[in-house]
Amino acid sequence: MMAVERGEASPKGSRKPSSQTSENAQKVLAAFIDRRKPYIWMLNAFGFERRVIVDVQGISAVISGGASGLGLSAARRLATRGVFVVLLDLPASRGEDMARELGAAARFVPGDVRDEAAVEEAVAAAAAVAPLRVAVACAGTATAHKTVGRNGPAPIDGFADTLTINVVGTFNLIRLAAAEMAKLDPVGGERGVVVATASIAAYDGQRGQAAYAAAKGGIVAMTLPVARDLAPLKIRMMTVAPGIFDTPILDGLTPAQVATLREQVPHPARLGAADEFAALVEHIVDNPMLNGETIRIDAAVRLGTK
Ligand SMILES: NC(=O)c1ccc[n+]([C@@H]2O[C@H](COP(=O)([O-])OP(=O)(O)OC[C@H]3O[C@@H](n4cnc5c(N)ncnc54)[C@H](O)[C@@H]3O)[C@@H](O)[C@H]2O)c1
Repeated sequence: MMAVERGEASPKGSRKPSSQTSENAQKVLAAFIDRRKPYIWMLNAFGFERRVIVDVQGISAVISGGASGLGLSAARRLATRGVFVVLLDLPASRGEDMARELGAAARFVPGDVRDEAAVEEAVAAAAAVAPLRVAVACAGTATAHKTVGRNGPAPIDGFADTLTINVVGTFNLIRLAAAEMAKLDPVGGERGVVVATASIAAYDGQRGQAAYAAAKGGIVAMTLPVARDLAPLKIRMMTVAPGIFDTPILDGLTPAQVATLREQVPHPARLGAADEFAALVEHIVDNPMLNGETIRIDAAVRLGTK
């Protein structure tokens, strides 16, 4: 995303800035890009521009589940690139502390990703600082119940909660963030990008993972139709399906269970680091040809029955 092409990158036509500060920031950004135009032209002549001219500075992003694990790592990566990040996470999360740690480039908005008003608030908080061009949906939970277990049939409430947090919550963020992106002028040929987080459980669901696999499968399945819906608006949708990553979500497992999972990973034979997920999100944001697809990031693991 934001590959600056042939001088069409001026943010002048972008949505009205909400304050004098952001107006000044946009002027500085426009002047910076203007100064680079001759270099962009030269690089274009040699076919280099798409690889070397990438500019996400001066935009904002909303990251659900941004207070922990994969979402927090994605927020850190984007903030390092000059993106203002809004961490949308539950009130009980460490969002406030994490936003403080990220400094002026971040803000925490407490809320539930299923709640329309909370997501609207997070979107507005991002758009108030800089044009919102990135949304990353990381909020998710996992429950484990066999369809029929020792205590009878799996609790239907747990199944429904897993679906609403993962599927409804993800779609809630995507639709509201994309509606905000649609108000912007395109930069580098696009208005924005949304990235969702599924899981390899969408393909290799283990025993007890009916709810989680169905939820993550729902995210994988919505990726293409959402990308098709958003294509006329020049907004992309991609999904990442992580394998087993070392984040607090694994705290619910015993060390023996984590070891069993780790042993199944062929190469590199270890748990993934959250920053490796974040690096893929960053690449998706940067690469305009990635759209409507789910990418597994899993070190070739294909999980067994349990
Ligand atoms: N870590 C892994 O191995 C792994 C593998 C595959 C997929 N995933 C997926 O990646 C995503 C991030 O997981 P993680 O590993 O970073 O776990 P994590 O527990 O560290 O982070 C998840 C975050 O989502 C937040 N959250 C949960 N429900 C929410 C809600 N209703 N509204 C707003 N925020 C909510 C939590 O408070 C938490 O901060 C999840 O969707 C998870 O299913 C993780």
